[in-house]
Amino acid sequence: MNLSDAIRSIPDYPKPGIVFRDITTLLGNARAFRRAIDELVQPWAGGKIDKVAGIEARGFILGGAVAHQLSAGFVPVRKKGKLPHETVSIAYSLEYGVDEMEMHKDAILPGERVLLVDDLIATGGTATAAATLIRSMGAVIEAACFIVDLPELGGAAKLTAMDVPVRTLIAFE
Ligand code: PRP
Ligand code: ADE
Repeated sequence: MNLSDAIRSIPDYPKPGIVFRDITTLLGNARAFRRAIDELVQPWAGGKIDKVAGIEARGFILGGAVAHQLSAGFVPVRKKGKLPHETVSIAYSLEYGVDEMEMHKDAILPGERVLLVDDLIATGGTATAAATLIRSMGAVIEAACFIVDLPELGGAAKLTAMDVPVRTLIAFE
C-alpha cells in the first residue's frame, strides 16, 4: 500500500486553483492510519518526547495518536478564544489577513521536549507560529512532523531555517 494513494485530492477547493489534500480518507483506512502514525513516530520511539503539541484541527487527530504511541502528553494549539484557562498567544499570517493561536500558559514547562504535529505543511505560517510560541514558553522543540508536505510553498524550509528538524511522509507538488 502506498500512503499517498490513501489521500484524496480535490481540485479547486476551497477556491479555484487550490488542490486540497484531504486526509479524511487516510484516517478512515485502518491500515493507512496505523502506518502513517507508526512512520511519523519512528525517530522518537525511544521515549525522548515529553509533550506532543497538535495544531487545530487536523493536528488534534494525529497528535493524539502520536502522543499515545510515544507515551507522551498531548497539548492543543488552538485558534483564539477556545481555551478556558490563562493562555499565551501569537498572531500569524494567513493567505488573507492574520489570525491568532493560543496555548494554555501551563501546558508546557520550561525544558520539556516537544514534538509539533499537524497533517500538512504548506506556507509554514501556522507551524512556524506554533514553534515560536512553544519556544517562548522555554520548551525545546525536538522536531515538527506532518503527513503531507507541499514543498513548493516553502514551509518545511522555513522551519528548518529556525533549527526545527522536519519530518514529512509524502510530498505533493
Ligand atoms: C491547514 C492545515 C495546517 C495549515 C497549513 O489548516 O491543517 O494547519 O492549513 O497551512 P500553512 O502551512 O500555509 O500555514 P487550516 O488553517 O485549514 O485549519 P483547519 O485544520 O482547522 O481546517
Ligand atoms: N492547508 C493549506 N493548503 C492545503 C491544501 N492544499 N490541502 C489541504 N490543506 C491545506
